[in-house]
Amino acid sequence: MLANKGNYAGMSKAVPVITIDGPSGSGKGTVSRLLARERGFHFLDSGALYRLLAYAAQRRGMGLDNESALAALAGELDIRFPADGEGDRVLLDGDDVGEVIRTEAAGSGASRVAALPAVRQALLDRQRRFRLNPGLVADGRDMGTVVFPDADAKIFLTASAGERARRRCNQLKEKGKLVEFEDVLADIKVRDERDASRSVAPLRPAQDAYLLDTSELDIPATMERLREILKNRLNP
Ligand code: DC
Repeated sequence: MLANKGNYAGMSKAVPVITIDGPSGSGKGTVSRLLARERGFHFLDSGALYRLLAYAAQRRGMGLDNESALAALAGELDIRFPADGEGDRVLLDGDDVGEVIRTEAAGSGASRVAALPAVRQALLDRQRRFRLNPGLVADGRDMGTVVFPDADAKIFLTASAGERARRRCNQLKEKGKLVEFEDVLADIKVRDERDASRSVAPLRPAQDAYLLDTSELDIPATMERLREILKNRLNP
């Protein structure tokens, strides 16, 4: 999968990349966005690509286990992340699907298509093209291990499954959705297991990643820790 690593690294090494990997609910989405904004860097939400693919496949009536058709679709999708203000706008074929790809159904579809090697390969170059000046913050599961192995700074955020389920419940309640804590916790455990046990690019920290457990940290405290960590790894 990394056969082209040499070329790739040679072409874009000058553009700094910070990778932030970890399971859902670790806080990585929020802090990655904040960090990108703070540094004036581009932002890659790689999970959104898998979510978009699952959503687009379902919209076309395709099965989520049809690996070759999904890989072909991954290469063709017209996806844009407009950098025009707040929020999570994501355009698929020109339609704003930012909300609909955040549903639990889209998340579980994403986790299924993300386990398919041909899909991951098809999305690899697409993700690397986000590495543009003045720099990139890349949020995902395999940013530091597979997509940007030469990143300037690699962070792996974790939190206990219980704490992540609590955060997810609060987010859903804010959106007016009633959910049972036990159901959310069970869903998180299933997804963790699938993401960590798949044969290709499983969820695990890169050897040179800095591990940060956010179970006891809120967002401002996590940001503070990240600034300290990055001070020693990146030029200001
Ligand atoms: O971060 P998220 O919840 O939006 O990710 C959705 C799914 O996509 C998640 O189950 C794991 C998968 N994913 C992945 O396999 N690799 C990535 N780089 C990002 C997400």
